[in-house]
Amino acid sequence: MSRIDEIKAAFEAEISSCKRLEGLEEMKVRYLGRKGELTSVLRSLSELPEDERRKAGMEANKLKELMNSGIEEARTRLEMKSRGEKASEMDVTLPGFGPPRGGLHPITKTMGRISEIFVSLGFRIAEGPEVETEFYNFEALNIPLDHPSRDGFDTFYIKGKTLLRSHTSNVQIHIMQKQKPPFQVLMPGRVYRPDAVDATHSFMFHQVEGLMVDTDISFADLKGALTLFCRSMFGEDTRMRFRPSFFPFTEPSAEVDISCFICKGKGCRVCKMSGWLEIMGAGLVDPKVFEAVGYDPGKYTGFAFGMGVERIAMLLYGINDIRLFYENDVRFLRQFI
Ligand code: PHE
Repeated sequence: MSRIDEIKAAFEAEISSCKRLEGLEEMKVRYLGRKGELTSVLRSLSELPEDERRKAGMEANKLKELMNSGIEEARTRLEMKSRGEKASEMDVTLPGFGPPRGGLHPITKTMGRISEIFVSLGFRIAEGPEVETEFYNFEALNIPLDHPSRDGFDTFYIKGKTLLRSHTSNVQIHIMQKQKPPFQVLMPGRVYRPDAVDATHSFMFHQVEGLMVDTDISFADLKGALTLFCRSMFGEDTRMRFRPSFFPFTEPSAEVDISCFICKGKGCRVCKMSGWLEIMGAGLVDPKVFEAVGYDPGKYTGFAFGMGVERIAMLLYGINDIRLFYENDVRFLRQFI
């Protein structure tokens, strides 16, 4: 037993001061090899009386295990040291955790792109109230109380004659009341409709409205501005189509279509095989609107247009459900960073 204790003490002193891998191999042979110190003890066990043999055998085997694990530990320590690492140090070669990066919402990005293009054409950006009176949302825009086009707009009344605006056209009136022509303004913002929510409808969405007023604006100016816009927004080869339509605040009025930029007009699922995508409403400002803001309709002319931002973003990014914009799911939003 005392021999075992001696070997143990010697081994422990030696292993803690061992500085080289070669020294470790040599120690292993010297203690545990065929002619090793512990091996000779194990071999001599048979000479002992029965009860001592058992006790000494257990101790010797425990020491053997201790030596094996001691050697392995020392090997790991020496190998790390030879690579210039310290046991307590982290592995600096592992990729780190960057701070999470934010980004603009796809709707904000799309509005930004639309705005940039019109700003480059000399338009100025203006905003107006989302909580609006019937006068700005309807009457001044030539939509009287009994007009059928008011049905799809009439909702979200707050109290009396105030409501959440159903389009950004209300800002046209605020602008015209505040300033005299000539001017070109772009009016982005949120609007509200009594629509049931589904893949293409939402009770809240975004529009960008445009208005240009001067003394000699014609439909050609409207076509020119929108053609420039559509080419830089959807590609230089984009073709346009103006379909006669009706809005109480423009006359004449048109729905503006662009050739489908996915199939180039051949017909696909997105354009419902028509080759065309409807992207906005537009027209020349109705003289009744000029009258409502105190402009002389004999002197001034202008054009106006309004487009839905979600629809354009869905087309550009290939998004098939409008609800994705409002769910605030980072797995969706992260794709636009
Ligand atoms: N305000 C109309 C709408 O919400 C769009 C529009 C704006 C049409 C300006 C013509 C001129 O549908």
